[in-house]
Amino acid sequence: MSEPAAYSGLDSRRFGIRVFRARVDTLAAASDLMRFAGSADVDLLIVRCPVEAVAAAQLLERAGGILTDTLVTYRGPTSRFEPSPVLSPRVRLCQEADRSALEGIARASFASFFGHYHADPRLDPAAATEGYVEWASSALADSSSVVLVSETEGRLSGFLTAKKLDAKTWEILLNGVAPEFQHRGIYAALFREIGWRARLQGASEVLISTQLANLAPQKVWTRAGLELDHALYTFHWWKA
Ligand SMILES: CC(C)(COP(=O)(O)OP(=O)(O)OC[C@H]1O[C@@H](n2cnc3c(N)ncnc32)[C@H](O)[C@@H]1OP(=O)(O)O)[C@@H](O)C(=O)NCCC(=O)NCCS
Repeated sequence: MSEPAAYSGLDSRRFGIRVFRARVDTLAAASDLMRFAGSADVDLLIVRCPVEAVAAAQLLERAGGILTDTLVTYRGPTSRFEPSPVLSPRVRLCQEADRSALEGIARASFASFFGHYHADPRLDPAAATEGYVEWASSALADSSSVVLVSETEGRLSGFLTAKKLDAKTWEILLNGVAPEFQHRGIYAALFREIGWRARLQGASEVLISTQLANLAPQKVWTRAGLELDHALYTFHWWKA
């Protein structure tokens, strides 16, 4: 039988501790997980739990887990995406020469993010931010990923990464707009463009997630016809 949690090399290296990750959907699975965590060499356990699995969530709370975010996932058809009617901002594919600007935007836009890493006071927020920077940057080298950037007033103002999960579905993964360019519709333009490119390449649906508290992207998605598909709590449980 496989272990109820998996060692996360990426998280462990980033924070200099032993991090495991798990998902539990039932009370019995949550109970097994906490038994495993008690006996394994774990510093931090990151657990996702569907919001409807209330008994499992309550067990994680009783065991000392802290709620660090609620991840909402939306899904929608590409048929509603049309080519962008305006040229401002210009949105194009990211090139290798854009890498350091892309990393700079990711660093600035994710510096105090709503995600579970930043919500845990025991984790170094600078290391948490670098996680998003690496995630954005690594998409440039991944052949199944698409990375778009926006240009405003001659500078890179935002980015968006997406992954082709299969012929039918693209998952939009990470987006950021530099703080000085926010509230100008740049994210909405990046989102429109990726939806259109997915449609052009034959995908029929897009999938995307964020934290429940992150209202700006959810406004843009619902206007584009996406609907809430499911939601997961994220708990962090520390051994000591
Ligand atoms: C989320 C983010 C990408 C939005 O970028 P943006 O270019 O400022 O967004 P837009 O200008 O297209 O705004 C979209 C809508 O959200 C609203 N909005 C923007 N920031 C908001 C905020 N902090 N709170 C509530 N609504 C907000 C805008 O007013 C707009 O709605 P409106 O048309 O009713 O005015 C940007 O704030 C960001 O980089 N945040 C940090 C990283 C992040 O959260 N990424 C997305 C999840 S992976």
